[in-house]
Amino acid sequence: MKKQKIEFEFIQYSAFEELNPVQIKLIQSSVQAAEKAYAPYSRFRIGTSVLLENGEILNGNNQENASYPVGICAERTLLSYVHANFPTQKKISLAITALDSDHVVSPCGLCRQTILEYETLQSQSIEILLHNRSGSVMVIPSGSSLLPLHFDRKMLT
Ligand code: THU
Repeated sequence: MKKQKIEFEFIQYSAFEELNPVQIKLIQSSVQAAEKAYAPYSRFRIGTSVLLENGEILNGNNQENASYPVGICAERTLLSYVHANFPTQKKISLAITALDSDHVVSPCGLCRQTILEYETLQSQSIEILLHNRSGSVMVIPSGSSLLPLHFDRKMLT
C-alpha cells in the first residue's frame, strides 16, 4: 500500500496591479462579457474571456433558460464557440469574472472537463484567472489541476 497525494500551486493576488498587462486586459474583457450575461433566473452573471495564441481575445457569458438545466455556463458557451470557429488556435489563458459574487468562483465540473479536453488536444495548459467583484484574482496554472485523476482521451485508447 502506498499513500499518495495530489497538490497544485496557485497564486492569489490582492491587487490588480500585481498582474501583467495581458492578464489585466483579459480580466477587464471578462468583466465586460459578464455585463452582457443572460442570467435572469440566477442573477449570477459570469463573464469569460479567452486569449488565443494569435493574441486575439474572445468573450462569452452564461446563457440561462426558463427550463433551468438547459442553461449553459459562461466557460462552455465561450469554449465551444471558440473551438468551433478557431479550431487550430491554441487557447493560452482563460479569465472568469463572477460579477455578482465576493467569492472566487471556480469552474463547475462540466466546465473543468471541457477546459481539460482542449488542454489535452493542444498538449498545452490553459492558465485560468478567477476574478470577482471585490477585485481579488486567483491564478491557476491549468484546468487539469482542478480535475485530479481526470478522464481524458488517452484512456479511450
Ligand atoms: N456559472 C457559470 O457560468 N460558470 C461557473 O463557473 C459557475 C456557474 C453559471 C451557471 C448559472 O447560469 C449561474 O452561474 C448560477 O449557477
